[in-house]
Amino acid sequence: MLPKLQSETVSEGLASVVAEHLKQTREHATRLEQVFRALDAEPTSNFSPPVEKLAQHHEELAGSFADDRLADVFHATAAAATEHHEIASYDALLTLGRSVGLSDDARKLLERNRGEEGETLERVEAELQRLAGDLRE
Ligand SMILES: [Fe+2]
Repeated sequence: MLPKLQSETVSEGLASVVAEHLKQTREHATRLEQVFRALDAEPTSNFSPPVEKLAQHHEELAGSFADDRLADVFHATAAAATEHHEIASYDALLTLGRSVGLSDDARKLLERNRGEEGETLERVEAELQRLAGDLRE
């Protein structure tokens, strides 16, 4: 999703946040694989139905904006929605991890991912505020 979002975004500020988060997300996947292995489980790849639905909704509407600035507000909103979902998922995993005796090292990996998702949400929301403010001009 992130490369497509980056290519659709006109705002350099928002595109920069998305590009940086794309790099982070690749590290997140590596950390998640490490967490699986710490639990003696083999990671597999699958799609998250809620994220798939968010992407589908975005795909359906992304081309319907006549104004690039309004489209960027839409892109920022979509990015924020995805970050909220990811943060809720990490919070749930961290809570579950306490119940199943997740090691400190594995918990720290999840916390790093959770922290970067939170920082990204803050940056996306700042861009959203700026882009929405620009619509008044
Ligand atoms: Fe994310």
